[in-house]
Amino acid sequence: MTLLDMLRALVFVFMTNFLCSYFAILKEMSLTLQKNDITVDQVVDKVQCVKKSLLKLKMEKELNETIHKDVKIIADTDNKIKVTYHGEMIGISAQQNREKRSQSAKMKETCAETVNKAILQVKNAAMKVIDETVKNIDDRFESFTNHKVIRAAAIINPHNWPTDNEIDAYGDEQLTDIFNHYQSILEARHVNLSAAKLQWLELKRLILRKKEDGK
Ligand SMILES: *[C@@H]1O[C@H](CO)[C@@H](O)[C@H](O)[C@H]1NC(C)=O
Ligand SMILES: *[C@@H]1O[C@H](CO)[C@@H](O)[C@H](O)[C@H]1NC(C)=O
Repeated sequence: MTLLDMLRALVFVFMTNFLCSYFAILKEMSLTLQKNDITVDQVVDKVQCVKKSLLKLKMEKELNETIHKDVKIIADTDNKIKVTYHGEMIGISAQQNREKRSQSAKMKETCAETVNKAILQVKNAAMKVIDETVKNIDDRFESFTNHKVIRAAAIINPHNWPTDNEIDAYGDEQLTDIFNHYQSILEARHVNLSAAKLQWLELKRLILRKKEDGK
């Protein structure tokens, strides 16, 4: 196997390892967005988590471990470098048998360089992929997650509620945002803000009471 073949094989395996982890993270977001009964704050949560996971994968130690998964690089006693993936041989430094000792030591060095070259190449590519993906996620979801009404929707989920006495005032501001956004429609249906706030308070108390009872 020539060094170039070895480089290609290593880059392929390292990159495949990276992509497995990368797509496993992105799959989470894709599956969430395909659900019909997804709430806005679940989407916001998922987007944040996916971004965090991608940035974690980009970290030096994590990325190194990811691309090396199931790969073993063994320098054995006769100065050959063997590379295995899942126990299958994918690379071995070339034609050692006919070489003199000095040459074989040199060969080992060159092989090690080849391995490092492959690692560096894949790490750089992986980081670029992650940066681009995070940027695209930001671009795609920024206007969505920063929209006043979308943000306000998070108050509906009792998991986001404070448990202490802040609960009475919780969400009033967001409720006002939602009301202002849909004002003409709501007023046409004779809904006014003070009545809506009162109902919101009653709803919070009712749900908390049910939660208490459920314990
Ligand atoms: C990368 O991971 C491999 C295999 O787990 C390890 O042998 C190597 O020392 C690590 N390199 C760095 C720079 O952490
Ligand atoms: C708001 O609605 C409540 C109940 O429907 C009603 O009693 C109240 O007069 C309304 N207030 C205004 C300012 O329209």
